[in-house]
Amino acid sequence: MKDLRLTDQTPQSRTVTVLGIETSCDETATAVVRRHADGSGEIVSSCVLSQITDHAPYGGVVPEIAARAHIVHLDGLIDRAMNEANCDFTAIDAIAATAGPGLLGGVMVGLMTAKGLALALGKPLIAVNHLEGHALTPGLTEGLRPPYLLLLVSGGHSQLLAVDDVAAYRRYGTTIDDALGEAFDKTAKLLSLGYPGGPAVELAAASGDDTRYDFPRPLAGKPGCNFSFSGLKTAVRQAAQQLDVVSQQDIADICAGFQKAVAATLRDRVGNAMAQFSTDHKGLAGPTLVIAGGVAANKALRGTLLDLCTDHGWKLSAPPVSLCSDNAAMIAWAGAERFVRGMTDPLDVTARARWPLDPAAEAVPYAGVKA
Ligand code: KG4
Ligand code: ZN
Repeated sequence: MKDLRLTDQTPQSRTVTVLGIETSCDETATAVVRRHADGSGEIVSSCVLSQITDHAPYGGVVPEIAARAHIVHLDGLIDRAMNEANCDFTAIDAIAATAGPGLLGGVMVGLMTAKGLALALGKPLIAVNHLEGHALTPGLTEGLRPPYLLLLVSGGHSQLLAVDDVAAYRRYGTTIDDALGEAFDKTAKLLSLGYPGGPAVELAAASGDDTRYDFPRPLAGKPGCNFSFSGLKTAVRQAAQQLDVVSQQDIADICAGFQKAVAATLRDRVGNAMAQFSTDHKGLAGPTLVIAGGVAANKALRGTLLDLCTDHGWKLSAPPVSLCSDNAAMIAWAGAERFVRGMTDPLDVTARARWPLDPAAEAVPYAGVKA
């Protein structure tokens, strides 16, 4: 296999332009991103095609439907990202694609397309860990440099990680059962609020009485930074089953109680992670908590985390909502950060359904597939 590692002048000393491809779940996304010599980033184009309407009738993402939709749309979206960037392929320095973790069929569609482009164009390939895309986003949006603490909460992940550097992560905690976005989605499904559930639960909670239900706060008060949401999900189901007729107010009250329990759980778990991070980074002035993943769009939870940060003298960094959920700008950016450090991949790199950011982290026995 031909090695496409860069051997010419150092990319750190010039602007590099990277095409990014993201197909790990139910968004087909492409982007062109620049990394300038001073380390700043620029999104030149970013296209996201959501498959929500394809999956909504099933109440969740159907892997086979997702993979087929990526095949149908990816080529057109690459053209769109290139056109919107007013860019031709000769101006691209490298091709970055999500190589995992995620739904394997979809990941393979994006990665194989990227390999084809890299081979045809003679450009380097960068196989990006989707989680690294989320983790490095604040570098693109606000020039934030590691180290910082990351709370990544999406439909597939609930993790607390120390981001020590590009390609250097320490996992403090992960879910031992459901991901937080999954808990939002299952709560919404139970209450017939549709898919995806997070925004619908947040909206309903806004008009609910959060004192009516006192749902459990899993693992709160215990040492460590792991999450568990299955007990909370069960409590929500039992509350709904105890009602003969479920009114709009009941739904709002259950959602408000659920969200309050989630907020308290996050406060507890993230509080422990902040203490751990401070111990591991003694002398670091003004540490930052970054929140990422689709659940980070939730304003009530953002408010809770902002209060927590303020109480402890931390800063909170929350990328814009469009860059919290899945997109290809974050993949192109992670690719650019790797590219300037000489980290490129051979064309026989494989797609991975599981790919922990911290390879030294212990496997969690009952964690969902993406932990
Ligand atoms: O990061 P993302 O777009 O996709 C992955 O799962 O990788 O996250 C989607 C998840 C879904 O579970 C969705 O219900 C949740 O993020 N979500 C929210 C909100 N918006 C999206 N959860 C709570 N509140 C929201 N406003
Ligand atoms: Zn994601």
